[in-house]
Amino acid sequence: MTEALILSTWSFALEANRSAWAQLAAGGASLDAVEAVCRHVEEDTEVDSVGLGGLPDAAGDVSLDACVMLSPAQSGSVCAVTKQLYVTSLARAVMEHTPHRLLAGAGAERFAVERGFETHELLTERARTTYESWLADAGSVGPQNIDPSLEEHHDTVGSLALDTSGALAGACSTSGMRFKTPGRVGDSPIPGHGLWVHPQHGACVATGSGELMMGSNTAFLAVEEMRRGAPVEDALRGAIERTAEEHELEPEDQVALLGLRPDGSWAAMSLRPGFRAILSVNEEPKLIEPASLWSA
Ligand code: GLY
Repeated sequence: MTEALILSTWSFALEANRSAWAQLAAGGASLDAVEAVCRHVEEDTEVDSVGLGGLPDAAGDVSLDACVMLSPAQSGSVCAVTKQLYVTSLARAVMEHTPHRLLAGAGAERFAVERGFETHELLTERARTTYESWLADAGSVGPQNIDPSLEEHHDTVGSLALDTSGALAGACSTSGMRFKTPGRVGDSPIPGHGLWVHPQHGACVATGSGELMMGSNTAFLAVEEMRRGAPVEDALRGAIERTAEEHELEPEDQVALLGLRPDGSWAAMSLRPGFRAILSVNEEPKLIEPASLWSA
């Protein structure tokens, strides 16, 4: 029997990991665990980059992206969803109930209603207030006016899990870059960019600047390194270095990865300091402060 494990991005996943643990430890599926982690964060109004409470785009609309993945042949994603809260569950429904990989915008909303998902207002009063003050300060509408200090909080909930049968699963969910250009979709819902899972070789989930991951297939790259035999830590380092090399980085850019292999070996690493992860190998989740490749 394999030892169960959940590894999730950012300290906001502490209670989410805790809530998902009991079922996984009792023999539940890794896919259920990563979905439960993401749902927990999607409901948390204190998290301003995922689900309810996520900050809107430059036009004031909140739009969500998510992905779930079991293998190259089994993934589901949604993007640009504006009326659904549980987008990770919706992505899972795409994987399990359609022949497709990604549903976008109005089509995803329509599919959600057909599957019995309830619609939600996603913009909270707090997010509206933050948006209005950004709009007043920015002077014009566009993400180029973002104060870099605001961006350090830009992040995604990503979760990787291994269940007692040895099956890997991954999921991620985000409201994307705050005050983004309307219509912008990041790395999270695109398999290989923000998330990649191969049942024999390993899994990787990314958080940080989506445009960078989209330029380098970062999550796929990390798992490909694992496929070639690299230890997880080396695989993450290689993917982060390659992503950084291939782009001109802005001061606020971050690339942060979690990796997990089917043998239970795992790693967490970031380009810049500040990344946090939550590891569960028993009922008490543990905060991890991963190494960063750069000092600032
Ligand atoms: N990494 C999430 C995004 O850029 O949308």
